[in-house]
Amino acid sequence: MNEQVFRDALASLPAAFRDARPYASLLLGSGWNRAVGSLRVLAEAPYSAIAGFGAATVVGHDGRLLLVEGPRGGTALVFCGRRHWYEGCEWEQVVMPAVLTKRLGCPVLLVTNAAGGIRPTLRPGDVVVIRDHLRLSPLTPLRGPHDPAFGPRFPDQSRVYDPDLAALLHKAGARQGIELTDGVYVLSCGPAFETPAEIRAYGILGADVVGMSTVPEAMVASACGLRVAGLSFVSNMAAGVTGQLLDGNDVVDCAQRHSERLARLVLDFLDLAAT
Ligand code: HPA
Repeated sequence: MNEQVFRDALASLPAAFRDARPYASLLLGSGWNRAVGSLRVLAEAPYSAIAGFGAATVVGHDGRLLLVEGPRGGTALVFCGRRHWYEGCEWEQVVMPAVLTKRLGCPVLLVTNAAGGIRPTLRPGDVVVIRDHLRLSPLTPLRGPHDPAFGPRFPDQSRVYDPDLAALLHKAGARQGIELTDGVYVLSCGPAFETPAEIRAYGILGADVVGMSTVPEAMVASACGLRVAGLSFVSNMAAGVTGQLLDGNDVVDCAQRHSERLARLVLDFLDLAAT
């Protein structure tokens, strides 16, 4: 990755972001955006105004960065929407939220997404705390000459998702009456959904949910020393699990129907993370 892209991005942010020292950062994927509605916005930057980032192109992804006041004071970053590898963009754009979180001095990143359920006991509407991931493709933002800004040449991956933050998510779920289950997320490159044979294989390999994001951001975030938490919202059962055909619009519709619950969960996490 090209370090200059991140320097330019940082320099292009309004000064309020650079002075804030946020205690947590949220990367909100499909369906998760509603969380920001009730927070006081202190500063805002559309992705298109952040050098090297570029506007989000996927439905359900707003494409703006907010600095908000936390429910208990302090400040938090909120990335509303993400860039995906399948959009054809560069790794710098995909991992920009993770790197900006780090460079703005924020120690915690919560990544959220919509995903297909592989484990047969899951149902659309369920929320999964990501405890680990599978990256079965060679795609990685860490390929290339080693840059110590992103941690060691061979970053440890045994604890990409911080167990204490996972416990905090469970606590937030319990307080909000939202049942959460733990799971393993498998990265699918997209933009095509998976075949039923692929989903069967992923299930055998230990995956519970499948999606087209999150893994690159989580890898870079953990490599550069951030504590990472992850949540998947099950927007559909993955290909072949129920025999129903998949449609990207159903993902967005399902996420909209559950957006109020997802918002409460994220807000409660922000509340707990502040203490
Ligand atoms: N597969 C991959 N990504 C997804 C899915 C899915 O079934 N649902 C939401 N994102």
